[in-house]
Amino acid sequence: MKREEIKELVAQMTLEEKAGLCSGLDFWQTKGVERLGIPSVRVSDGPHGLRKQDGESDHLGMNESIQAVCFPAGCAIASSFDREAAQMLGEALGKECQAEDVSVILGPAMNIKRSPLCGRNFEYYSEDPLVSTELGTAYIQGVQSRNVGTSPKHFMANNQEYHRMTSNSVMNERTMREIYLAAFEGAVRRAKPWTVMNSYNKLNGTYLCENKEMLTDILRKEWGFDGFVMTDWGAMNDRVQALKAGCNLEMPYSGGGTDAEIIAAVKSEELEESILDRSCEEFLNIVFRYAKNRDETAVFDRKKDHELARKLEEECIVLLKNEGNLLPIKEHTRTAFIGKYAKEPRYQGGGSSHINSTHVESAWEMAPDKEYVTYAKGFDDREDAVDEKLLAEAVETAKNAEMAVIFAGLPDNFESEGYDRKHLGMPNCQNRLIEEIAKVQENTVVVLHNGAPVEMPWINDVKAVLEVYLGGQAVGGAAVNVLYGKTNPSGRLPETFPVRLQDTPCYLTYGGEQDTSEYTEGVFVGYRYYTSRDMKVLFPFGHGLSYTAFDYSSLTVSRDAIRESEGLQVTVDVTNTGSMAGKEVVQLYVAAKDSKAIRPVRELRAFDKIALQPGETKTVSFMLDARAFSYWNMEIHDWYAETGNYEIQIGRSAEEMILTKEIRVESEKAIPKVFTLNSTMGEIMADPKGKAILEQAMGAMMGNSQAAEMADQAKGDSSVINDEMLAATMEAMPLRQMLSFIPGMQKELLEQLVAALNA
Ligand code: BGC
Repeated sequence: MKREEIKELVAQMTLEEKAGLCSGLDFWQTKGVERLGIPSVRVSDGPHGLRKQDGESDHLGMNESIQAVCFPAGCAIASSFDREAAQMLGEALGKECQAEDVSVILGPAMNIKRSPLCGRNFEYYSEDPLVSTELGTAYIQGVQSRNVGTSPKHFMANNQEYHRMTSNSVMNERTMREIYLAAFEGAVRRAKPWTVMNSYNKLNGTYLCENKEMLTDILRKEWGFDGFVMTDWGAMNDRVQALKAGCNLEMPYSGGGTDAEIIAAVKSEELEESILDRSCEEFLNIVFRYAKNRDETAVFDRKKDHELARKLEEECIVLLKNEGNLLPIKEHTRTAFIGKYAKEPRYQGGGSSHINSTHVESAWEMAPDKEYVTYAKGFDDREDAVDEKLLAEAVETAKNAEMAVIFAGLPDNFESEGYDRKHLGMPNCQNRLIEEIAKVQENTVVVLHNGAPVEMPWINDVKAVLEVYLGGQAVGGAAVNVLYGKTNPSGRLPETFPVRLQDTPCYLTYGGEQDTSEYTEGVFVGYRYYTSRDMKVLFPFGHGLSYTAFDYSSLTVSRDAIRESEGLQVTVDVTNTGSMAGKEVVQLYVAAKDSKAIRPVRELRAFDKIALQPGETKTVSFMLDARAFSYWNMEIHDWYAETGNYEIQIGRSAEEMILTKEIRVESEKAIPKVFTLNSTMGEIMADPKGKAILEQAMGAMMGNSQAAEMADQAKGDSSVINDEMLAATMEAMPLRQMLSFIPGMQKELLEQLVAALNA
């Protein structure tokens, strides 16, 4: 429907009808206006399956929803590093939505993993904004290609579950831009989501629902968002302020209370009616986009989507360790499947994303070489207690096999929406089981079902570890396909696995105090922190093994020196040198070599996933723009690519660089300098114009020989004051100090000098 038509429609609406459009009809539906042909539409969770509730409703996954397919959760999809996989997931969900008449799916969930403790990390993508935004873009494009909307959430800085409804996330502008906004930015700019969901929390003191800077200035004006903003469920604070800030729809229903507040505010002229009109237009633009493009023929093919869920999960599984190439399991190997999750996998997290799955496929059910496979439960996950009988039976089963595969991980109550984890440990009973099995079976593999990093005290005792994350309802089939080599694993970690909780960047402040969470680690989130500190981690960001091997060669750059706007083309050759077809995730990092700003040692700036047959070589090409070299400069409130040298690095992970090339970038942005009496000699001398003026003025004011004499005097006993100290002192000396150290110096002269510098 054209904007003009929508405007006309809104012009025909009463104040009451317009205010009514600002909140939900019920838990999942928006209001319609029958007399004007405005339909009521339904939205539904999300993000990795359809949680459509036809009966009793809730936002915590307590009541029944329709039977649907549970796809790999965000943690898993991100580890695919595969845009195509995320897009396919989106397309399937979009089709399911059309079949079930759902206008918007509430996802993707794109918050940054600031700490592995966040209870909801299983739904989120990554600690890295590029991975988040790239995967989010593909998901959104996939869903919306079916004329169904998405709602990237939770916008923004909602990085903890503890007190998520009231907590205040406090961070500086640079951290916000480089990390937390960047996770959403690319997706909003490129994929144009139909809606965005604002989060519960405050950002720098203002609830997101009424944060004009976020919802209007950045989201709409800067990024070009043209859909509607809806609150998270119950995230409304002050309805009138929120409307002014750019929050269109309050969800779920308001009981009429906040609609009345809007009406009263218009009547008392506290709220301009034009703001309400615009909000309705933005909202209706999307409602009609869906209504006019309904696909009544769409079918929710649960069987087909189950197959897709398996296929996608196979892209996600990360082979963390594979000593002596123990995996894949050779045919007819007597293998003991140990652990409850071999028969009842943990495959999704608790809360609003919880799917009523059509069929949960276990590894046991899908094992190809069934007569060679035995099973022992080993542990229960209802409580963390060693069951000696189950343990003994498991040890016996493992002993009698040639190989043991332990299906372990985090139980439901160890991670969930609504609360944070307290530690990174797996249940003690499972750690003990793994240790006991490893003692009797040297060929032990651990398959991990978890939504976030865990500590692995047994890592040196087992030969192989497979991270399957919360891999959706077909996780069992996907896991055996990888274990038995039908599929070559190609997932990479979208987050660092630290050695221990105490090592994490925000260990000291996570969760905050008195409802304030200070993001004091700034941009040093995840690998940006560990690599800059050169810390030992359990597994680095970007890590993942394969059953084949990849060689990198011929790193080329289009030019050795560029002006920032010119961009840089980088190519690298990747060869599959092993004997099995496989996929490699090519990771490009940029390292600023001589930055004056405090910057991470390296940052991921591009990646691609490619498939290679044995012996095959492909040239992978990346185009880097100015942003790849930039940081957010808080003086100019803009991206800034400093002039200087940068290293282009191709890595196997954030830690292991294979090929590098240094280039030079010339900045095209000037940072306007304002000099004062407190500007230091160093600052002035660093500025070409400042240097010329200062040198001339100094000469005129004191004569060159006097200046030299002063320097000698200041130096005095050279065993106490050396050249370096003298240079540092001069460099750091504010102009005003000349009054103290240069006899006869007049303040007036210095003020004239400052005026000349600023002219
Ligand atoms: C969650 C959202 C979800 C909404 C509706 C909230 O509690 O934070 O992600 O979409 O409920 O269920």
